[in-house]
Amino acid sequence: MQLYVDSANLADIRAAAALGCISGVTTNPSLLAKEDPTLDIKELILDIHRTIGGHVSVEVVSTDTDGMLREADAILEWFPDATIKIPFIPAGLSAVRNLANRDIPTNVTLLFTANQAVIAANAGATYVSVFLGRLDDISTDGVQAVRDTCEIWDVHGYESQIIAASIRNPLHLLECAKAGAHIATVPYKVLLQSMKHPLTDSGLKSFLDDHAKMMTAKGA
Ligand code: G3P
Repeated sequence: MQLYVDSANLADIRAAAALGCISGVTTNPSLLAKEDPTLDIKELILDIHRTIGGHVSVEVVSTDTDGMLREADAILEWFPDATIKIPFIPAGLSAVRNLANRDIPTNVTLLFTANQAVIAANAGATYVSVFLGRLDDISTDGVQAVRDTCEIWDVHGYESQIIAASIRNPLHLLECAKAGAHIATVPYKVLLQSMKHPLTDSGLKSFLDDHAKMMTAKGA
């Protein structure tokens, strides 16, 4: 399972990129709205792209197919390997089909069921983003939606890559990996939480203390 960072915060993306384990970034209008409103969106996206050097999903905000396609073309002028993130609405599916026919990668977002993911895959989506956390928020098992999608992918061999999105904690990440999601897009905070283990910290402290004792004994 590949790891993306779900963020538009350049400092977090820089820190995550430095870890060497991140293959991409997913953004959305809400993540962008959390950043400094004086920042130019195009320049911020280009900075993110330069920083991560891999997949960057950029979401359209039009709700009609022509508007989405116009936005997609503008984003592709910013950088030609952009992945166009499109909401799962009928107009979005038409846009996905149009872009797929031109070999332009798309990430269909706001998927909450495996059925929606199957429909997006049939429209030609390169990526299908299944949201977990927001399902949990309404007392529905979000991980199950990812499990269902992965099970169907195993049966039918769809080519679209499954992105587990709306991940809120390390257990979500673990369960998505076990389910077989191709990619998990995680907030930087959840990435750090998933790295943390007290035995790693105490083990390193012991190694360093023992090394220091040995050097002292040697008179170094
Ligand atoms: O990329 C979109 C998705 O990950 C949103 O997450 O936490 O706002 O539900 P959240």
